[in-house]
Amino acid sequence: MKYETIHNVTLPKIGFGTWQIGGESTPNPDWDSKSLSALSAALEIGYTHFDTAEMYASGHAEELLGKAVRSSQVKRETLFITSKISPEHLNYDDAFKSCEKSLRRLQMDYVDLYLIHWPERRMKLEETFRALNKLVRDGKVKNLGVSNFNLKLLKQSQALCETPIITNQIPYRLPDHSYIENGVVEYCQQNNILVTAYSPVKFRSMRVNKTLGEIAKAYSATPFQIALAWLVMQPRVITIPMSFNPQHIKENFDAAEISLTTDEMSRLGNAWNKGDK
Ligand SMILES: NC(=O)c1ccc[n+]([C@@H]2O[C@H](COP(=O)([O-])OP(=O)(O)OC[C@H]3O[C@@H](n4cnc5c(N)ncnc54)[C@H](OP(=O)(O)O)[C@@H]3O)[C@@H](O)[C@H]2O)c1
Repeated sequence: MKYETIHNVTLPKIGFGTWQIGGESTPNPDWDSKSLSALSAALEIGYTHFDTAEMYASGHAEELLGKAVRSSQVKRETLFITSKISPEHLNYDDAFKSCEKSLRRLQMDYVDLYLIHWPERRMKLEETFRALNKLVRDGKVKNLGVSNFNLKLLKQSQALCETPIITNQIPYRLPDHSYIENGVVEYCQQNNILVTAYSPVKFRSMRVNKTLGEIAKAYSATPFQIALAWLVMQPRVITIPMSFNPQHIKENFDAAEISLTTDEMSRLGNAWNKGDK
């Protein structure tokens, strides 16, 4: 595995996402077994960064993640757990309640990183960061970050956060360059903020794009692995693919070892037409 270190925080280039673990927006008990198997496989393979949120399966993803960690051989301190506060809980009092509930569901004393899941039109960022800063001072949260924030909101967050903003978690994948176009990726790279690319392999043209197929063949890799390698070859970019399939979970983890050439990086970057996501 390759890593990124910023502000004394080290994160693996490839972590594990938990959207759909335990359900989608509500819990789905029928998915518990496959969800726990996927989490156990990820822990066994050596994933150390797990990305979850209070919103995922209405908190059930956090419950299952905590359960999988407790029943594994892995020590909590060796893991990096990210969770997120939902936009409807961004006022001062609710922020504490959300964090407490997440910790209770995870059965953990702290999360390593706590993100604002996405911005809300009426949010008062100053009030939210007053609560988030206190959560850091109280040791419930080790680091803070944001998700789906544009440049203006990201800069506002930096000004309000008492500790460095560790990441902006954004949609970023081969065919989706919207956060390059809006300047966020470059700003993060120049200002020591990690870009956490979400939904890195979720796109329709994955299996049929000619350039991706050719490069995958040359590396005896899958197109999914090349799509992940393209992201994590970029400085300050990490990613968090999700899968229920143990073989995919392993392939995604191994993708960090693939070294693409500069020419392959730019061929891939130019292999999609605008809007073809
Ligand atoms: N901050 C936000 O607003 C936000 C939004 C969306 C997602 N996220 C986070 O980002 C994580 C990843 O995004 P995502 O779950 O939307 O999409 P994703 O990880 O890009 O794609 C997941 C899908 O791709 C398939 N897949 C994964 N690896 C594969 C491989 N090697 N070969 C073949 N198929 C593969 C999975 O199916 P199989 O199970 O069959 O492998 C699954 O259907 C989420 O779980 C969540 O933690 C955050």
